[in-house]
Amino acid sequence: MKILYFTATGNSLYIAKALGGELLSIPQMDKKGIYEFSDDKIGIVFPLHAWGVPSYLVDFLKKAKFNCRYLFAVTTYGIYSGAVAKHLHDISIDAGYSFDYINRIKMVDNYVPTFDMKKEIANEHKKEVSKQLQAIKLDIESSKKWLLKENMLQKGAFNYMASRAGRPFNEKRLKVHVYGEGIDNYLQVEDSCTQCGICSKVCPVDNIEVDHEKGKIKLSDKCFMCFACLHHCPSNAIHVNGQVSRDRYINSNVQLKEIVDSNI
Ligand SMILES: Cc1cc2nc3c(=O)[nH]c(=O)nc-3n(C[C@H](O)[C@H](O)[C@H](O)COP(=O)(O)O)c2cc1C
Repeated sequence: MKILYFTATGNSLYIAKALGGELLSIPQMDKKGIYEFSDDKIGIVFPLHAWGVPSYLVDFLKKAKFNCRYLFAVTTYGIYSGAVAKHLHDISIDAGYSFDYINRIKMVDNYVPTFDMKKEIANEHKKEVSKQLQAIKLDIESSKKWLLKENMLQKGAFNYMASRAGRPFNEKRLKVHVYGEGIDNYLQVEDSCTQCGICSKVCPVDNIEVDHEKGKIKLSDKCFMCFACLHHCPSNAIHVNGQVSRDRYINSNVQLKEIVDSNI
């Protein structure tokens, strides 16, 4: 079994590791130009953005080719998953393949503009992550065919509309929709930055350069808002305009080195 994953703060990496199999980081595959994968079972594990699939992953999935008997996807999310399964299903059909199984796992919500990480971490136990994980693991082991989409659609029109409302946000770049063009509208780097370079190593799209001469980091405009840079900054120097607090989050089952190895 192969699992392709993307992660910013470790939730999706934790789930990918727990599901087992050979782990392949999507940013690494993307940087190497590898888009075709073969195995008996193949899975995709990723964080949900704006009720759907992050734009970065949409681009990857449109190019991907999967040669397998069983294709599954698990998304990690914090509060409300919209109709992510419908989004994923539509992308896959357009790209010429289809998922046998799509499910979600509720975890800490790392979206700092809306959520206070201290409260999120304090309430993490209520989400019973291991229970959700165990059930999904059994489903995948038994090659269960099931699409969360069906459930979402049964639940009614609201979820369907939510997925439609979120679609332009995640299909284009979410950052531009929320903050407009220009990185300065969005991220601020404080003087406590030591140019250690961790932000640039955890950025999946190589958006950050360390300028040792100027004693600063330089941000370009490829950002799709995964928030890896600000959650992993050891001096807490990177901040989103309008964030609710300065607290940060990293999944406790994942080491910084693993995030760097996944995204560098
Ligand atoms: C830009 C952005 C948008 C997000 N949108 C949603 C959302 O619409 N609904 C939700 O429940 N969680 C949302 N989240 C939370 C993440 O999906 C969640 O914390 C995920 O588990 C993070 O995974 P990771 O640690 O592997 O990066 C969002 C996070 C980010 C950074």
